[in-house]
Amino acid sequence: VSKELQPLFDAHELLCKFYHHLLVNTKEGQHALEYLLERGFTRESIDKFQIGYSLNSWDFVYKFLLKRNFSPESMEKAGLLIRRERDGTYFDRFRDRIMFPIFDRNGSTIAFSGRSLGADQPKYLNSPETAIFNKSKILYNYHLAKPAIRKMQHAVLFEGFADVISADRSGVENGIATMGTALTDEHIAILRQNVHSITICYDSDNAGIEAAYRAGNLLSDASFQIKVAMMPDGLDPDEYIKQFGYEKFQNEVIGGSLTWMAFKFLYFRREKNLQNEGDRLAYIEEIITEISKLDKAVERDHYLRQLATEFSLSLDALKLQQKQIFFAKK
Ligand code: GTP
Ligand code: MN
Ligand code: MN
Ligand code: MN
Ligand code: MN
Repeated sequence: VSKELQPLFDAHELLCKFYHHLLVNTKEGQHALEYLLERGFTRESIDKFQIGYSLNSWDFVYKFLLKRNFSPESMEKAGLLIRRERDGTYFDRFRDRIMFPIFDRNGSTIAFSGRSLGADQPKYLNSPETAIFNKSKILYNYHLAKPAIRKMQHAVLFEGFADVISADRSGVENGIATMGTALTDEHIAILRQNVHSITICYDSDNAGIEAAYRAGNLLSDASFQIKVAMMPDGLDPDEYIKQFGYEKFQNEVIGGSLTWMAFKFLYFRREKNLQNEGDRLAYIEEIITEISKLDKAVERDHYLRQLATEFSLSLDALKLQQKQIFFAKK
């Protein structure tokens, strides 16, 4: 690490420890700890993920770092302080938030995401992009999950930190998440080094289902084996686990995850009324287009039969149309 970057790493490491201390050992952090326990976080998880609390103060971190000889200029570059335009003074970026440290692949803290305790906006406040933190390359929990991912040759991709942490508690140790952004080619390149099989377990609300479709397409283009885990009633994994427990999450949500094609069967009919002839024909056409993308003849045959059965169509007609789409594409 260069001499210029070292203070950025050092400050993050110090603060990670101190935020954690504030959460678990101090009166100031008590309401934050209660909030987490109320949500179902355990003390083990809080320690394992080094969750912390940032004080409700404009200059606590400023003074804390200054006392330890960190220059405010470099701490502004680290994203920990913000400089006031009007007089050039500094204030703390993170105030009165639950602090989730973000680790790089070596386990060094390189950023934070701070969750507000109440209705304060934004719900999650992230460190800005810095010399040591690039959001589009970081997967939350990758450093801890990597051994499990390699061993199982499988990873589970979540939308949020809380989901990764709840799933970990229920025994899913190969869980990772993006930092509230879409999956990027850089993320995919990192994953490819270790794994070729992924279960997407995003929130089962509209936004999550759309994001799962996009992520699935990217991963599928990169030749990953994909499954998609879904939950009822628009729940997210963390909420599902709180409501139904660890075992049901493992067995029914992860265990019952859909193949990529089965997910698309559901995805394309979401906003359609299949009783309506126009919708029905549009749907059948979309699905045949998807089927024609499959490499294996046996798979194409399998899904065409499924479609034929569901809509009482002749398999010959479906096959003919599939071939037309297939050859039009080539
Ligand atoms: P909880 O409400 O704490 O359970 O969070 P969640 O993970 O369920 O949040 P949600 O499903 O709304 O969003 C998924 C992910 O998007 C979060 O984990 C964050 O990484 C990110 N995110 C959510 N809200 C914000 C926000 O206000 N700002 C930013 N930058 N990211 C956000
Ligand atoms: Mn969501
Ligand atoms: Mn939301
Ligand atoms: Mn969510
Ligand atoms: Mn949630």
